[in-house]
Amino acid sequence: MFDVEKIRLDFPILAKEIFGNPLVYLDNAATSQKPRQVIDALVDYYENFNANVHRGVHTLSMEATDKYEDAREKVSSFINSESSDSVIWTRNASESLNLVAYSWGENNINEGDEILLTPMEHHSNLVPWQELARRKNADIKFIPMLENGTLDMDRVDDLITEKTALVSAVHMSNALGTINPVRELGVKAHRMGAKILVDGAQSVPHMPTDVQELNCDFLVFSGHKMLGPTGIGALYVKKEILESMEPFLTGGEMVLEVSYEEASWADLPMKFEAGTPNIADSIGLGSAVDYLNVLGMENVREHEKDLTTYALNRFKNADLEGLDLFGPDDPNIRGGVFSFNTPDVHPHDLGTFLDRIGIAVRTGHHCAMPLVRSLGVAATARASFYLYNTKKEVDILVDGVTEALRYFRDGPN
Ligand SMILES: Cc1ncc(COP(=O)(O)O)c(C=O)c1O
Repeated sequence: MFDVEKIRLDFPILAKEIFGNPLVYLDNAATSQKPRQVIDALVDYYENFNANVHRGVHTLSMEATDKYEDAREKVSSFINSESSDSVIWTRNASESLNLVAYSWGENNINEGDEILLTPMEHHSNLVPWQELARRKNADIKFIPMLENGTLDMDRVDDLITEKTALVSAVHMSNALGTINPVRELGVKAHRMGAKILVDGAQSVPHMPTDVQELNCDFLVFSGHKMLGPTGIGALYVKKEILESMEPFLTGGEMVLEVSYEEASWADLPMKFEAGTPNIADSIGLGSAVDYLNVLGMENVREHEKDLTTYALNRFKNADLEGLDLFGPDDPNIRGGVFSFNTPDVHPHDLGTFLDRIGIAVRTGHHCAMPLVRSLGVAATARASFYLYNTKKEVDILVDGVTEALRYFRDGPN
């Protein structure tokens, strides 16, 4: 049973007031809040078994190593990876993408090759490929997008050719909420001998993820958007590809033998983890995964789908003076991300007004500047939901936006 009111009690910050109003936290696409269980796991690590991993024969170090590797196992099972050796710890999705662009891209993208992206990529899944393409004289192409914010899948067969080396696509857009058919993109990529990377930064926290079912070659995501701490993320790579990849960073921990002249590399996954890792936060992410597993990711998705359906109706039926809501209107292919533009009120003013009544939304280009520009606006306001949000909070949001528009039109009461 998915009991939101009970879940909310696990999140200390949700009891906070902002300017005397209950916090309505709707900036989950930027980062999620953390439950007590995750906060406790961090404190427990520092209070009870803080030590470096993989190095010591002493009790604390062995305990820290066990918990740290146990967290990797949890993350690996969470995405149904065939092996935890395929899961590399990184700082975040951005670092995971850079790791792929350097370690795999440098040796597998050549002059004249093509990298196929979608127009709705976060800068983190765009800029590393722009840089790689520049270094290699390769080309970047984009799958066109339809009016409703979904990909024009009819064009994909023409765009994936023998020149395509990589298709890299966001699973759920952080700006539009669109859920892209990444499995289908993968089938088409593989048919032409290309690899598929899935940016799961917004999907892994919100829906079940099965890398074997998706049959993706690479999956990237961040811990902080899925109830975990900041500073920890993960990269999944199919084992046979990972085995063929060169290290990204070199130094301590990732080596097997070192002489004054040269070095050989440790086995997976440590080959890709130079230096002392982020021990506490990986353990914190393991605890976040435990929390999500107890709720069940199917239930998380159902709850958010329900909220999305409700919010789509509320936005449609409210008196919102020409408000433009971006993204698909079918909750089956959309997550709980609501980006909108109000013609007469700048998103920053709207965001500031909403903050005064306790509502936290994001305003700006959401690190998807080319996409937001293609929508014909400089910025949008964005409300994004997570498992602890309620229909009542959707009401507060829609009423707040209505009130803001009235305020900027007529002035204070
Ligand atoms: C779709 C998507 N990809 C990648 C990222 C980058 O995540 P991080 O900033 O944690 O590296 C984000 C963050 O907002 C995102 O929404």
